[in-house]
Amino acid sequence: MSAAEFVPQSRSLTTLSRAAKRCEGCDLYRHATQTVFGEGPASARLILVGEQPGDSEDREGHPFVGPAGKLLSTAMEEAEIDRSEVYVTNAVKHFKWEPRGTRRLHKKPSAREIAACRPWLDAEMEAVEPVGIVCLGATAAQALLGRDFRITRNRGGTDRVSRGPLGNCDVASVSNSSRSRGRSA
Ligand code: URA
Ligand code: SF4
Repeated sequence: MSAAEFVPQSRSLTTLSRAAKRCEGCDLYRHATQTVFGEGPASARLILVGEQPGDSEDREGHPFVGPAGKLLSTAMEEAEIDRSEVYVTNAVKHFKWEPRGTRRLHKKPSAREIAACRPWLDAEMEAVEPVGIVCLGATAAQALLGRDFRITRNRGGTDRVSRGPLGNCDVASVSNSSRSRGRSA
C-alpha cells in the first residue's frame, strides 16, 4: 500500500494538497481527522520536514500550529528566517495516535507508513525544488536519508543527497527538541 496511486501528475501545490485530502495510501487516515499537507510558497528555497502532524495539527488541518509549531516559529524568528517564505511539511501526513485516558497520545509512525507516504513528500520536493531541506527530528531524517541514518552521529551536519528529486539539494537535520522536551507536542 502506498500513496502513489493517489498522487496526481500535476506539481501544483494546490492540486497536490487537494488530492492528498482523499489519500488512503495506508491505514493512518482511518483514525485521523484529516490530511495535514505541507504549506508554504512554491518559490520557497527551504523545506522543513517534521515527523507527522500532532493533535492540534490534526484538528486544525495545518502543519506545525500546535506547541511544536510555536517553538518552531520562535526559533525561526530568532534565526531571522521568515516562516511565510519557507515550505513546512511532514514525512507522514496523518496523525498517528493511541488513546491515553481522554488524551490522544502521539505514536511514532512505522517505517512502512513513512514509506507509504513518501510519494507526497517527493511530489512536494518536486513542486518546490528547494535549495535546502531541514529535517526536524530523526523520523524525518530517516524518511529522507534512509533507515540507517542516526541523528546523534550526524547532528548539525549536512548531507548532500544525490538521487531522485533531491539532485542538488543540501539536507541538514536537527533534533526535534520540542518532542524530546514533551511527548505531548
Ligand atoms: N511535530 C511535527 O513533527 N510535525 C507537526 O506538524 C507538529 C509537530
Ligand atoms: Fe496517505 Fe500518508 Fe495519510 Fe497514509 S499517512 S493515508 S499514505 S497521506
